[in-house]
Amino acid sequence: MIWSRIIGTGSYLPERVVTNDVLAQSMDTSDEWIRARTGIGQRHVAAPNQNCSDLAFEASKRALASAGIAHTDVDLIIVATSTPDVIFPSSACLLQAKLGIKGCPAFDVQAVCSGFVYALTIADKFLKSGQHRTALVVGSEVFSHILDWNDRSTAVLFGDGAGAVVLRADSHPGIHATALHADGAHSGILSVPGSICGGKVVGTPFLQMDGQAVFKFAVRVLEEVGRETLAMCGLAVSDVDWLIPHQANVRILEATAKRLGLDPGKLIVTVDVHANTSAASVPLALDTAIADGRIKPGHKVLLEGVGGGFTWGAALVEI
Ligand code: UT7
Repeated sequence: MIWSRIIGTGSYLPERVVTNDVLAQSMDTSDEWIRARTGIGQRHVAAPNQNCSDLAFEASKRALASAGIAHTDVDLIIVATSTPDVIFPSSACLLQAKLGIKGCPAFDVQAVCSGFVYALTIADKFLKSGQHRTALVVGSEVFSHILDWNDRSTAVLFGDGAGAVVLRADSHPGIHATALHADGAHSGILSVPGSICGGKVVGTPFLQMDGQAVFKFAVRVLEEVGRETLAMCGLAVSDVDWLIPHQANVRILEATAKRLGLDPGKLIVTVDVHANTSAASVPLALDTAIADGRIKPGHKVLLEGVGGGFTWGAALVEI
């Protein structure tokens, strides 16, 4: 049996930090409101010339260094993003060129805030097929590009960043189980509805959201898919060492841990300092908690994504 294992992680945050107080200077909001409703204290914002593949490149170099492998060993590249550099080519192909890798398949996955869990699941299946051996799986986002900075109900929630993992085929797990879901009937509650046609933007190019509907949906499906994934590998909630849900809002994270019956001390929270970085949030949180020593080899980590589409999914990963 072939399994896949995470053998290295890396992440990158743009240099510029924007605090809630800075946002409150240009819109009708406050540090108190943002912290109380979301748990967010600050976010990183990319420079105007920094795109998805630039952030992905920095995170990938760090993940490859932590895995201790050469870039030429990579034989599959998947980038999860909803904010690609351009319509095409994919940010994965642009990343491949920046890394100096040639020939292996490279493609983007578009599942918004579930993107990393989707990409990890796809890579796991490629490796299990035996046709590929070493995958670079990245979540990279520049949501600052698609926010209306005059809309306080969305602008305060998001940040930019990238996280990457190197996945390697192994005779031991690794990734014990994954589960993915989507329900397009809920596409309207979180979207960027604009498109490009005939050289013009048709519709709004900015993120639109029904915050309360997203909140309720997220809490329900994060519990459901967590239980489903644990059942697939015959594990109980008490077997989980760490829970890393998509970092959207600390209230969503805490509600998910509570509904699962998980000790709140096992919840990894980075939304306070990264805000919501969409597809980058889970690998950013994973790298943060491995780097600071909380997640150790042998620990079982439940990764969960939920986002626009609507999409959701989870992966039970042994580090
Ligand atoms: O990856 C998934 C992405 N999306 C999410 O995770 C969002 C999920 N939803 C949420 O996190 C929450 O619904 C929000 C944080 C977006 C909003 O929190 P809420 O407790 O649901 O607040 P609300 O939308 O009911 O708004 C309450 C009040 C409103 O004022 P009125 O109508 O009561 O006078 C809003 O206009 O708060 C107002 N408000 C703000 N006030 C200060 C909305 N945004 C802000 C703001 N600063 N930034």
